[in-house]
Amino acid sequence: MRIGVIGAGNVGTALVKRLKPHGHDFKLSFSRDAAKLRLAADAFGVETGLPSEIVQWAGVVALTVPWGAVPEALDQAGNMPGKILWDCTNALLPDMSGLAIGTTTSGGETVARLAIGTKVVKGIPPMAELLHSDDPTVNGQPVGLFVAVPAVWVYNYFIGKIESFDVEMDNSSSELIDYFIKRSSMRGKK
Ligand SMILES: NC(=O)c1ccc[n+]([C@@H]2O[C@H](COP(=O)([O-])OP(=O)(O)OC[C@H]3O[C@@H](n4cnc5c(N)ncnc54)[C@H](OP(=O)(O)O)[C@@H]3O)[C@@H](O)[C@H]2O)c1
Repeated sequence: MRIGVIGAGNVGTALVKRLKPHGHDFKLSFSRDAAKLRLAADAFGVETGLPSEIVQWAGVVALTVPWGAVPEALDQAGNMPGKILWDCTNALLPDMSGLAIGTTTSGGETVARLAIGTKVVKGIPPMAELLHSDDPTVNGQPVGLFVAVPAVWVYNYFIGKIESFDVEMDNSSSELIDYFIKRSSMRGKK
């Protein structure tokens, strides 16, 4: 898969480090310092490009910038219809003392509003330091990815389950009644 990374910092490069060996192609973008971006790309053997270029090239776009840089990053990326935007950001204040937004909306919803026409998947990776380390496991176990599933998908999933459960219950109860009728008629014949 082609993965374009917007923000080649701790998390952006950690995704390259962990996923490139599995056959995924990467391009890095979005830096205030072109030489620094080039160094990061060279260190991981990948190419660089403008956000608008890598978005066209990629199937999945990973958004790995500090919260304050999200509007600028998405503005530079431009429209990305049909692409999947993997939003790795935390909606933190610049000094990380708390959340920049919350209680009435979320980081994922804000990104989805800014990235029009894009399928946004909110997936917060584990600590970048861990992903960059020689052994990214904890107690020998692989660490997970926190994924926020859109509430409507969850609702539809469970409603679907409840409906099929109803059908299963209906079928089971009529089978049970048939069984009772059969048993009682057999008993009557004895
Ligand atoms: N670090 C973690 O363990 C971790 C884990 C899960 C999620 N996250 C989230 O992932 C996102 C990225 O975190 P990170 O630790 O990878 O950050 P980071 O190391 O600071 O990387 C951010 C990247 O964005 C680029 N950038 C471009 N324009 C920027 C601007 N105006 N202001 C700031 N940066 C700009 C920076 O490039 P230049 O400096 O070259 O301009 C830098 O490479 C954050 O939202 C964070 O909350 C982090």
